Amino acid sequence: MSSPHIVWHDHRVSKAERAALKGQKPCILWFTGLSGSGKSTIANAVESALHVKGRHTYLLDGDNIRMGLNRGLGFSEADRVENLRRIGEVAKLFVDSGMIVLTAFISPYKRERESVRALVEAGEFIEIFIDTPLHVCEHRNPKGLYQKARAGEIAEFTGISSPYEAPVNPELHVTTDTQSIEACVAQILTYLEDKGYLHA
Ligand code: ADX
Repeated sequence: MSSPHIVWHDHRVSKAERAALKGQKPCILWFTGLSGSGKSTIANAVESALHVKGRHTYLLDGDNIRMGLNRGLGFSEADRVENLRRIGEVAKLFVDSGMIVLTAFISPYKRERESVRALVEAGEFIEIFIDTPLHVCEHRNPKGLYQKARAGEIAEFTGISSPYEAPVNPELHVTTDTQSIEACVAQILTYLEDKGYLHA
């Protein structure tokens, strides 16, 4: 519960000034999709490509954040909601700092993704649906978790025993079973270039 005795401080250096120094439009590239869909792989590759272009980025990644900031949160609906709420707030701070922030979380609930969208200004939230069919994710099985989920050893596993609400109208719809990682990255970079995010 917030104390009533706290007062918001305005900062002297604005978001626009910080962004201008970096020569870019700050935004959140919000990757969402099933476990094993390729969110982290593609987000990593997009970050590398942006870095080569001299853009200022930061990647917030599911497993890593759950080892630090969100240690202690599990996979119940309430914990996932809190996980995403905190990530949304952190991502907003990164946007305020002038960065292009990439986030790679399953983020299975439409309402939570829309809450993050509402935290930032219009155009600053870019939802990227990494659309990979469950059977492909299960076949890839990069962390070996799907058999455990099928065997009932992991409860509330997204796609198996916990829901995934696919985005209805994402800014970017990326299909990974029909194109290469390079093509997925190119699709995202073209969008950012065309919409003017890579220049102040
Ligand atoms: S989210 O639903 O709250 O957005 P998040 O992206 O942080 O999930 O974490 C997902 C990662 O945690 C998966 O890639 C997987 O490695 C691991 N994980 C462990 N248990 C589960 C589970 N029950 N459901 C989904 N992922 C799980």
